[in-house]
Amino acid sequence: MGGDGHAVDRDRIGCIDDLQPEEEGVATTYGADIQPLFRAKDIKCMSAHVSLNDPQYMCDPAGDGTFPDHANARLVYSRLTDPDSPMPPDGPWPPNQIATYQSWMTDGFQP
Ligand code: HEM
Repeated sequence: MGGDGHAVDRDRIGCIDDLQPEEEGVATTYGADIQPLFRAKDIKCMSAHVSLNDPQYMCDPAGDGTFPDHANARLVYSRLTDPDSPMPPDGPWPPNQIATYQSWMTDGFQP
């Protein structure tokens, strides 16, 4: 029975019973979605300070005096989105890459 009380002609609509609730989105992961965003020059330039190509470093859940958890990943995010001196210095990431990084954080910093 449709919301307005009219009978729903299931045969005419066909696969209405096959409709499943929308599949849960696939979580953003460091390995598949974040690591490929870092260029060789980013990794090389930052290797002494920030291990951009190391999943263990980037997914480390430990906090520090500045960030309550995932201090390494959040420090990187803070510089990717720094309005005054963003990283990389040769030009900030486009909004879609920032959004991917944000969804990685929202999805729990999956490796
Ligand atoms: C997506 C790429 C990059 C990310 C995410 C990134 C991230 C960061 C972060 C988090 C810091 C602060 C480190 C700390 O406080 O210990 C930093 C500093 C720095 N980065 Fe990068 N970096 C990137 C690319 C680059 C590249 C390509 C260069 C060189 C051409 C570079 C040069 C520097 C320098 C000289 C500093 C120290 C001065 C400052 O803090 O502004 N970075 N970067």
